[in-house]
Amino acid sequence: MATAAPVEIAAMRRAIELAARGLGHTSPNPVVGCVVLDSEGRTAGEGWHRRAGGPHAEVYALRAAGERARGGTALVTLEPCNHTGRTGPCAQALIDAGVARVVYAVADPSPTATGGALTLAEAGIEVEGGLLADEAAAGNEAWLTSVLRGRPFVLWKYAATLDGRVAAADGTSRWISSPESRADVHRLRAAADAVIVGSGTARADDPQLGVRIAGLSDDEISRPLRVVVDSGASAVKAGARVLDGTAPTLIAVAEDADAAHLEGLAPIVRLPRAAEGRGLHIPALLQALHARDVRSVLLEGGPTLAGAFLAARAVDKVVGYLAPVLLGAGPAAVGDAGITTIAEALRLDVTETARLGPDLRITATPIRHSRPEEN
Ligand SMILES: NC(=O)c1ccc[n+]([C@@H]2O[C@H](COP(=O)([O-])OP(=O)(O)OC[C@H]3O[C@@H](n4cnc5c(N)ncnc54)[C@H](OP(=O)(O)O)[C@@H]3O)[C@@H](O)[C@H]2O)c1
Repeated sequence: MATAAPVEIAAMRRAIELAARGLGHTSPNPVVGCVVLDSEGRTAGEGWHRRAGGPHAEVYALRAAGERARGGTALVTLEPCNHTGRTGPCAQALIDAGVARVVYAVADPSPTATGGALTLAEAGIEVEGGLLADEAAAGNEAWLTSVLRGRPFVLWKYAATLDGRVAAADGTSRWISSPESRADVHRLRAAADAVIVGSGTARADDPQLGVRIAGLSDDEISRPLRVVVDSGASAVKAGARVLDGTAPTLIAVAEDADAAHLEGLAPIVRLPRAAEGRGLHIPALLQALHARDVRSVLLEGGPTLAGAFLAARAVDKVVGYLAPVLLGAGPAAVGDAGITTIAEALRLDVTETARLGPDLRITATPIRHSRPEEN
C-alpha cells in the first residue's frame, strides 16, 4: 500500500503485537489489535480483543484515546466489523468517535461481519485496507482458516528422534525432546482452543494435557478443551489425568459405544465411525468441535491418529521437534496416511526452523494439491 505513512506502518505492527495477546482466549472470534493515532500521528490509544463476548479491540483503543481520536487515524489488524453481535458494530464506534481515517490489514471474510469498510467510507471516513496484510493474516491464521474451511484450524505437533521415531519399541516415549521443546509445546497448547490425542496415547501415557507456562499465573493461562478420541470408550477411565478437573475435557466416542462408565466423569460426544479403517470420522469430529466454538486444534498424536488426520487432508500446519537421539526401533512419527506410492507423497513447505536447546524445531505447511479434503 503506497499511501501509509511510516508512523502508520509502525502503529500497525504494534496492533499486530497487541492482537497476539488474545490468542487462545477469543474463539469463536478472531484476535484483533488496534492503535489509534491522534491527528498529529501520536499514539492516543491501544487495545486488543481480550476474550469472546468482551469489547472489540477498536472499543478499547477508542476508550483509551477519548477525545484525541477525533480527526485521528485508527489502525486495525482486521476490517472493523459491521454487525451487532454480543457487542455493537465497531464501524459505528469509529464513526461516533470522529476518526478521519481507518487503515486495516486484512479484509473480514466472515459473512456476518463483513462490510465494515464500506460503512466507514459511506460515513465519509478515508479507508484503506491491506497494510501489513500478510503479517496480520499470519497472526490470525487459525481463525482465517476456520472461516475458509468451515472447520477448526489443525496444527499437528510431534516430537521425534533424529530417526523419526516417537516412542521406543516398548512404547515408552518420555522424554524424547528437551525441556525447551516441551515448554514450547505448552505455548502451542495455550494458543489452541482444543488439544487432541488418540486413545492409544491416552492408554500409553495417561497425559494430563494441561498448560503450564513459567511466569504466568493460573488466571493468565488459557485452558484448552482436552479431547480424547476414543471410539470404543475404553481408554479413559476414572482416575485418568485428563479427568483431573483443571480444564474442560471431552471424550469423542462412536455412536454405538458403551460409555456408561463415563457418566458424571466427562462430557462425551457421539460420532460416526470412519467409513474405512479404524476409529471415528475425522471431519465429523472437527465439525463437532467447530459447533463447540473451537476454531483451533493442537493435534498431539499419536501416530495412528495423526495418519488419519493427514489422510483426511485435515492438517493445516506441522510442528516437528527433532531431538538428537536415535532409537533404531519404535513407531514412526506418523502412521498410515493412505499414501501408497511416492507420487501421492504429501509435500510440505518449511516456513521456519529454530533451535530449542539441543533440538531442532521445524514448522511446515502442507502444499495443497488436487486431492480434496474429506468431508
Ligand atoms: N513423541 C510424540 O510426539 C508422541 C505424541 C503422542 C503419542 N506418542 C506415542 O505414540 C504411542 C501411541 O500412538 P498410537 O498410534 O498407538 O495411538 P494414537 O494415535 O494416540 O491413538 C490411536 C487410536 O485412536 C483411535 N482413533 C479414533 N479415531 C481414529 C481414526 N479416525 N483413525 C485412527 N485412529 C482413530 C483408534 O482407537 P479406537 O478405535 O479404540 O478409538 C486408534 O487405535 C505411544 O507410545 C505414545 O507415547 C508420542
